[in-house]
Amino acid sequence: MNPTPITVAHGDGIGPEIMEATLFLLREAGARLDVGIIEIGQKVYERGETSGIAPTAWDSLRKTHVFLKAPIMTPQGKGFKSLNVTVRKSLGLYANVRPCVSYHPYVKTLHPDMNLVIIRENEEDLYAGIEHRQTDEVMQCLKLITRPGCEKVTRYAFEYALQNGRKRVTCMTKDNIMKLTDGLFHQVFDEIAAEYPAIKTDHMIVDIGAARLADTPEKFDVVLLPNLYGDILSDVAAQVAGSVGLAGSSNIGEHGAMFEAIHGSAPDIAGKDMANPSGLILASVMMLQHIGLGKIASRLHNAWLSTIEAGYQTADIMTNKDKLLGTREFTKEVAFRLGSLPEKMAAVDYPEASTQLKPITYVRQQPAVKELVGVDVFLHSRETDPSTLAGRLQTAETDALKLQMVTNRGVKVWPNGIPETFCTDHWRCRFMASHGNKVATNMDIIALLQRVDEVGLDFIKCENLCHFDEVPGFALGQGQ
Ligand code: NAI
Repeated sequence: MNPTPITVAHGDGIGPEIMEATLFLLREAGARLDVGIIEIGQKVYERGETSGIAPTAWDSLRKTHVFLKAPIMTPQGKGFKSLNVTVRKSLGLYANVRPCVSYHPYVKTLHPDMNLVIIRENEEDLYAGIEHRQTDEVMQCLKLITRPGCEKVTRYAFEYALQNGRKRVTCMTKDNIMKLTDGLFHQVFDEIAAEYPAIKTDHMIVDIGAARLADTPEKFDVVLLPNLYGDILSDVAAQVAGSVGLAGSSNIGEHGAMFEAIHGSAPDIAGKDMANPSGLILASVMMLQHIGLGKIASRLHNAWLSTIEAGYQTADIMTNKDKLLGTREFTKEVAFRLGSLPEKMAAVDYPEASTQLKPITYVRQQPAVKELVGVDVFLHSRETDPSTLAGRLQTAETDALKLQMVTNRGVKVWPNGIPETFCTDHWRCRFMASHGNKVATNMDIIALLQRVDEVGLDFIKCENLCHFDEVPGFALGQGQ
């Protein structure tokens, strides 16, 4: 059999140390891999490549479709884009899979029976990275949730549950507040759940869900979340299982897969031979399963479990100083145990066939009947009295579009606002179609914006208000 081509990046901080450990173990375990090394992260950013990855590195990724990646440092501040987000989105890696398992009593945890998997939507939500400064006082980040994104990750979660003998999928959203965006995620979850009657399902509002996950994680099985909540809760889950240093993850998509530890580049311990390589080692076990090397995956995973069972610990999980090892020595102990099985913890035995699921294709639905019924015009104004502002806006009304309400930070302040509501310099002014069958046209909106400009108001953007199959595609103002 020919070696399997994979792309490897050593990353920043502790990245090179833990990648060296992982590649050493993959070789020692007998994995036949054709490793192509690419450079990503800090050095690339410093060369002025704002994406953190050189254009030539994509050639390797697009050839191998399998990426084993060490953590990288994302420069803080403006002008740099997160490389992790870029790779996930460019390769369409829509599902992030993070098993969080306790290794009691060998790794200290309050939750000895914890064994859950977080599946996180990986491409959209606030991570679309579409942000704007709109006024002196207000910044905006656009939260995008799409039907294809929800369908792909949800279907993946159910297929994953079936493939891995998991019994329950719990979805968490905040759809009591974000009725359209999180509401779509929840709705798609319910639709797809109906196709998998063998799997139990439930939905929790993410705040109470997070509290329960931190308190009784042993009650969860597969947890499905939109991107941001999944990012936060998977770190919580990994940490309560023992350490963020222990968890590996896979990023699965239509055009490839990426495997990485869930933690970052840990600059505080870089170069000190202190890092726990386990997260990346376990990510490489997931990679071996993905490329159909189940036997070697089992060999490496069992050696790692045996090492943990023998009580060896890195500093992040240390409870016994006598068994404390640095990154290199810990790695050697794992290599020494290749071929051994754990005696107390359950040994793994992965099938040789690839765990890749058949491609999940999205079938576009029939378009809805869409009617334009109004427009929200956003203003930058230092006016402090909503009624005065509304008066000026009414002078801008046209025959087609009439002012219905004004909100500030989403709270209705006109008509019938209350004086206690604090107002910033960012106003949302809702105009509704007033004539005929209450339908407006884009030209009506252009005419309105022209009037708004003529009365000396500074509009910064507008959002069209539409009905889709007669259902409003916009939220009411708070207090409307
Ligand atoms: P971090 O995960 O790097 O570190 C948080 C804490 O956990 C630190 O005290 C660190 O020493 C410890 N830690 C992390 N991994 C460990 C390991 N394997 N062994 C022992 N201890 C470990 O998170 P932080 O400090 O917020 O971020 C540092 C940098 O990493 C940032 O530039 C961030 O953007 C980047 N980052 C990169 C990620 C990736 O490449 N996938 C993911 C998360 C953060």
